[in-house]
Amino acid sequence: MRKKVVAGNWKMNKNLSEAIQLVSDLRNGLDSFEPNCDVIVCPPFTNLESVNTIIKDSKIHLGAQNFYFKDSGAFTGEISADMLLSVGVEYVIVGHSERRAIFKEDDSVINLKLKQAFTKGLKPILCVGETLEQREGGITKEVIKNQITAALKEIPAENIANMILAYEPIWAIGTGKTATPEQAEEVHKFIRDLISELYNSNVAENLTIQYGGSVKPANAESLLSQPDIDGALVGGACLQADSFIEIIKSA
Ligand code: PGA
Repeated sequence: MRKKVVAGNWKMNKNLSEAIQLVSDLRNGLDSFEPNCDVIVCPPFTNLESVNTIIKDSKIHLGAQNFYFKDSGAFTGEISADMLLSVGVEYVIVGHSERRAIFKEDDSVINLKLKQAFTKGLKPILCVGETLEQREGGITKEVIKNQITAALKEIPAENIANMILAYEPIWAIGTGKTATPEQAEEVHKFIRDLISELYNSNVAENLTIQYGGSVKPANAESLLSQPDIDGALVGGACLQADSFIEIIKSA
């Protein structure tokens, strides 16, 4: 039985004191009930260590939003897997559409990042998704298939158990527009079938596939009740402890 996972991607939000406040509120809120899902927070790099101290022995897991695929060296401004591991990071987002679009990360970089994450023992959250133009052009599935096939190139089946896949239609990210539960389920089912083709049905059945893109307390339950939607990657709505907790409760 695969586990539902709700992750919060803070993006470039929250300074240190705001981060401490948010994660403390989250921790307190989660102490009052037993979530039916795993919970991950992905704060900016500068908050990781402090957030890690606050979530010690809690139900909250720590993720980062990015890293570089080299071990160390002359890569100004970059952060390595070992650096993340040394401050308690367990998960890392790879291939977010903002990294692809704004920072020009392509499929080959994403593939190298996944390989490095597995080598180092970080669990990647691989993001894929189509633009509005691609959806309207009827090529959503083709785009998703190409992104996943390229990202997972030469990655063996045993690694897939240590990752999460997130389907995030780009037109739904930060726009307030959400895919309908039916639209999202259709792509999630397609992704699971693709993983089954690339690996086998057992790998596919055990893979957690999150939906992301304007997930809010008001739409979380209808999305998360779909058979192939195993959680959410939440941006805007994770910046307030109460709305993030409502989404966690929906799972
Ligand atoms: P959003 O962001 O919830 O603000 O749409 C989701 C994401 O980019 O992961």
